[in-house]
Amino acid sequence: MTSLSGITPSGRLTLGNYLGALSRFTDPDGFFFVANLHAMTTKHDPRRLATLTRECATLMLAAGIPPGAVFVQSDVPTHAQLAYLLECTSYVGELSRMIQYKEKGGRPMTRASLFTYPCLMAADILLYGAQRVPVGGDQDQHVELARDVAVRFNREYGDTFVVPELHKAALATRIKDLANPTAKMNKSDADDAVGTIRLLDPPDVIRRQIMRAVTDSDNEVRHDEAAKPGVTNLLEILAACTGGDPAQLALGYSSYGDLKRDVADAVLAVIEPLQKEYARLATDPGAIDGLLAQGRDRALAASEPRLQAAMRAMGLAGCA
Ligand code: TYM
Repeated sequence: MTSLSGITPSGRLTLGNYLGALSRFTDPDGFFFVANLHAMTTKHDPRRLATLTRECATLMLAAGIPPGAVFVQSDVPTHAQLAYLLECTSYVGELSRMIQYKEKGGRPMTRASLFTYPCLMAADILLYGAQRVPVGGDQDQHVELARDVAVRFNREYGDTFVVPELHKAALATRIKDLANPTAKMNKSDADDAVGTIRLLDPPDVIRRQIMRAVTDSDNEVRHDEAAKPGVTNLLEILAACTGGDPAQLALGYSSYGDLKRDVADAVLAVIEPLQKEYARLATDPGAIDGLLAQGRDRALAASEPRLQAAMRAMGLAGCA
């Protein structure tokens, strides 16, 4: 069962990206990529995009994804090619219902690509016949759309695409901002946002952020999303880092201070080895180029036949 997932380099990666996605990119036969084309749906700075793309790719390699499985989306032109065919298979009605478009789009100066973005994401998934798509909870609607588009394409033009499944994590599907625990931790927030843990920030900064996380005033450690969002978020982070159950873990604590100290230790136990490996890889840019070229070649070879099949099915001339 092939898995596929991507990360958009629209900011420096966070603990949410790691626990909700990156740490689950474990399929040795999978395809995991830096979704840099997706980072251009809102106003962007080309130099920053190039830097963030490289940082994201290096982190993916540092996280232990097998080298041949990691690539940069724009290196593999089949993604943009299939996206156009899927724009011709999607409806304005369904695209305008996407939460991200409703939140950020709909204005005269909204980039057209923000509207069609879910078609590119569907292309990413459908090109490889991916059945499993390990993502955090905020991507469910996009994966659902990819499913709908695959079913519609197969019905209208003949069986071409595998219909993907969501691959939801049991835990950490929506890590919250430590300073505002009802909002998602978001890599697009300001670089110095105190509630956002960045994977490459110094360990003492990360520890301080966790020790200052917003909780509440009754000092009772309990897993209760509605009444205690801050404490619940800390318990979920602890559970995701250590493999425990958040409600069970709560029973072991009688103070917020002890909980925060253990969360900081658990987060750093995950992040520090990742940072060490990142630093080691970053000393050899030529080797990173080589690994990404390997990933690109494998992705091209795997995706080309399905693009050709889709073109033939749609009646495009000149494709053998
Ligand atoms: P992106 O870059 O916003 O996020 C990358 C992955 O991290 C997950 N995530 C979180 N999980 C838990 N808690 C959080 N606070 C949190 N924040 C982010 C996201 O759910 C995602 O899995 N459109 C996608 C990238 C993409 C993609 C794809 C994914 C492009 N093509 C094809 C899967 C398949 C995005 O912008 O994710």
